[in-house]
Amino acid sequence: MSLERSSEIKKYICSLFVKEDEILQTVRKRSKEQRLPPIEVPSNVGKLLHLLAKLKAPKRVLEIGTLGGYSTIWIARALGPECKIISLDIDAHNIEVAKEHLALAGFQNQVEVRFGRAVHLLQEMIDKNEEPFDMIFIDADKESYPFYLDYAVKLSSVGTLILSDNLIPKNGEIGGKGPDLQEEERGIYKFNQQLAVHPRLDSILIPTIVGEKGRIDALGLSIVVS
Ligand code: SAH
Ligand code: DHB
Ligand code: MG
Repeated sequence: MSLERSSEIKKYICSLFVKEDEILQTVRKRSKEQRLPPIEVPSNVGKLLHLLAKLKAPKRVLEIGTLGGYSTIWIARALGPECKIISLDIDAHNIEVAKEHLALAGFQNQVEVRFGRAVHLLQEMIDKNEEPFDMIFIDADKESYPFYLDYAVKLSSVGTLILSDNLIPKNGEIGGKGPDLQEEERGIYKFNQQLAVHPRLDSILIPTIVGEKGRIDALGLSIVVS
């Protein structure tokens, strides 16, 4: 399918099903002004996360990769007030901006943002025997995705929904068999392989249309089954 056509389809879907209110628009705009990289999920993926969160109705959510809190807000808006979200990021400025955005959206008491390297924070959760999560969204540095999956499963219980962003890299041979893969691409294809054969997971990739040009990416959907 041509990129032009998929871009049109994305616009069509958004015009029918995705309403970014003033707060989400402000979050996007302020993130840019604050010089955060424009790599938040597109609004159609935000809406998909929102619906999946509604379906799951989790009590505890873990997000790996906060950025400016854009995806966090889409997810938080699907949840009851008793639900808690813990979101991790390695960048202090991103966290500062995200906290402002989460307060703007009214979620300052429901979302806890933790600062540090995700693998370190995840190991800390395990060491401290923190309660398992009902939903986990993986969306940080791609080369670490294989590690994040191991941690996500450890921090899950049967029924946990694990969602993973960007499972079809922008560049490189699909499936990652080429010799000239970047670290990020290697990480993602290794991750997909892990998802496919993981004995405790039942998974699929949901293709998504992203970016101005309507590139095809994918959101991983996994259920912890044992
Ligand atoms: N989920 C966000 C986008 C996240 S972008 C949204 O859709 O709105 C990826 C984020 O991962 C960035 O903010 C980056 O600072 C963070 N990140 C990168 N490497 C990391 C690491 N090793 N540990 C924790 N966070 C990391
Ligand atoms: C990009 C997009 C993402 O969703 C992400 O998590 C990281 C990078 C990108 O477009 O470069
Ligand atoms: Mg992403």
